[in-house]
Amino acid sequence: MSYPYQITNIEQYHRDYKRSIEDPAEFWSTIAEHFTWKKKWHTTLNWNFSEPKIEWFKGAKLNITENCLDRHLEKFGDTPALIWEPNDPDEHHRILTYRKLYEKVCQFSHVLKNNGVKKGDRVCIYMGMIPELAIAVLACARVGAIHSVVFGGFSAQSIADRLYDAQAEYIVTCDGAYRGQKDIPLKSVIDDALIGNRIVKKVIVTTRTRTPVSMIKGRDLWWEDEIKKVETLGLTDFPAEEMDAEDPLFILYTSGSTGKPKGVVHSCAGYMLFTTYTFVNVFQYQQGDIHFCTADIGWITGHSYILYGPLSAGATTLMFEGVPTWPDAGRFWNIIDKFKVNILYTAPTAIRSLMGFGLGPVHGHDLSSLKVLGTVGEPINEEAWHWYDEHIGKKKCPIVDTWWQTETGGILISNLAGITPSKPSFATLPLPGVHPILVDENGKEVEGNNVSGNLCIKSPWPSTIRTTYGDHERCKTNYFATYPNLYFTGDGALRDENGFYRITGRVDDVLNVSGHRIGTAEVENAINMHANVVESAVVGYPHDIKGQGIYAFVIYQGSHAQNTHGTAEMIRKDIHQTVSRIIGAIAKPDKIQFVSGLPKTRSGKIMRRILRKIAEGETENLGDISTLLDPGVVEEIKNGKL
Ligand code: WT7
Repeated sequence: MSYPYQITNIEQYHRDYKRSIEDPAEFWSTIAEHFTWKKKWHTTLNWNFSEPKIEWFKGAKLNITENCLDRHLEKFGDTPALIWEPNDPDEHHRILTYRKLYEKVCQFSHVLKNNGVKKGDRVCIYMGMIPELAIAVLACARVGAIHSVVFGGFSAQSIADRLYDAQAEYIVTCDGAYRGQKDIPLKSVIDDALIGNRIVKKVIVTTRTRTPVSMIKGRDLWWEDEIKKVETLGLTDFPAEEMDAEDPLFILYTSGSTGKPKGVVHSCAGYMLFTTYTFVNVFQYQQGDIHFCTADIGWITGHSYILYGPLSAGATTLMFEGVPTWPDAGRFWNIIDKFKVNILYTAPTAIRSLMGFGLGPVHGHDLSSLKVLGTVGEPINEEAWHWYDEHIGKKKCPIVDTWWQTETGGILISNLAGITPSKPSFATLPLPGVHPILVDENGKEVEGNNVSGNLCIKSPWPSTIRTTYGDHERCKTNYFATYPNLYFTGDGALRDENGFYRITGRVDDVLNVSGHRIGTAEVENAINMHANVVESAVVGYPHDIKGQGIYAFVIYQGSHAQNTHGTAEMIRKDIHQTVSRIIGAIAKPDKIQFVSGLPKTRSGKIMRRILRKIAEGETENLGDISTLLDPGVVEEIKNGKL
């Protein structure tokens, strides 16, 4: 069975695309008719990019969880909504039908309410990939609280910053999380994050690893005890809070070119519509298919394509707790075989890392259930694309290369599986409702084909970022001020002779390491926190598996070679430790080169362009270095390259 708004052939794609650009309000209001509303809208779209102000479906009332759960109960009550595969393949998997998931979400909504959580309150969620994470997210949405999920790899300091920025009063966490061989003590990280915090009132802790945790009277509560109380009262339903179309649904922090992550805010109606529409169309989901997105719910991909998009479409979504390489590098293939997965959506990094293990781990697993493959998060190189196509899709599964961002909420540029053509390393064509344009440095539109430029979007799609939490001005300067009246993505792109887009990577000081966005300024700030670091400069360099690696040039007090703190290797480890504490292990530099100075202009600005070239292995064409304060430093840095 397909969906009323499903694009089923290429002519329809072109027709729908044209309609969506000519009259977006008409186009999206027709699609919105297929959702459940408590009250209909009076104005479909009202916008200007100068403030920015973006309002979709103004006047409408809804709750996204009624669309993700309640409306499916009658037809799909016994259909699996969520399949959960644990980290350890010997542990039993869990299946939550739509009815079961509905009940669990309702129960936890009561728990939230009983503990004082109200509409508009911020709830920070810091958990491993267990069903309770999905339940907590949906329960927040049901009571109208704004969730802020923080990825389990972030440090206590990062959590503390995010808690403060969002003024969050509640936390939902686990004792610990399993990831491969590791057992990560999440609650203890939360305890560290809460030292000195006077805002958080309650911390709800679910048990997973049963690692010892400290539970503070009056603040910390066991999830299981709180659920018991609700069960005793026999509460199985929870009336969904009536939300305004434009009420915030969640905050998700992401890195930019400044040192401080931004709280990207998405709102209820537009986000719901666009994630559902893109899920159904990009992956060409058919009722009954099993969709496996390997992302973590701590990132936007997990929010949109493990949870909200699939559940709103009444799909079966598979959530995996572990990592692709444990107990062996055949884990994804084992899961696909075990559950007869139809759609696999993963990151180029994962594909490249699995490629490195050869075909051994692929053999012996039946992958014939696969129909569609997807990639996300970073440019996919042709070699990885072909390996994915040949060895996983057996040349019979279309690959969708989906380009989007935390700020866009859903996929903006991608082929539609089996409907529009694919081209290796090209995201290809925009989704209906998405109007990309390329501009040069001066903001002048680059027209025609076979051209490249900075990628911007001309008009709002339903899940456009609405604001950056607590600082609307920042949203404006970051995304809507570089080029007046355009949303600037921060990415460079080229458009080929067919009008297909290829995303070439960030044009700002943002790195993409294993599909994770990290700001160079953030990493520099963290490195500079080390007591003996005088200054540092961080750039990206091509990395075979991660896509980009982090290369840090560091000036260490009193020269690293002659000091009392041990060898250069020991000092590198100290710096790693510092970065892990300040940001998290994901931001640890891959290479640290000690230098006596950095290439600076006379006005003191670091010439990153030169450092980037050196890190990339370029020794000759470094460009004009005559304007440097001390051109001699370049020679030293070149000679010391790692
Ligand atoms: C940045 C957004 C989108 C969810 C995961 C990452 C890069 C994303 C692609 C792609 C080339 C891609 C861009 C973008 N990116 N998808 N298919 N091809 N690059 O979300 O952390 O917000 O990062 O990821 O550079 O700006 P994010």
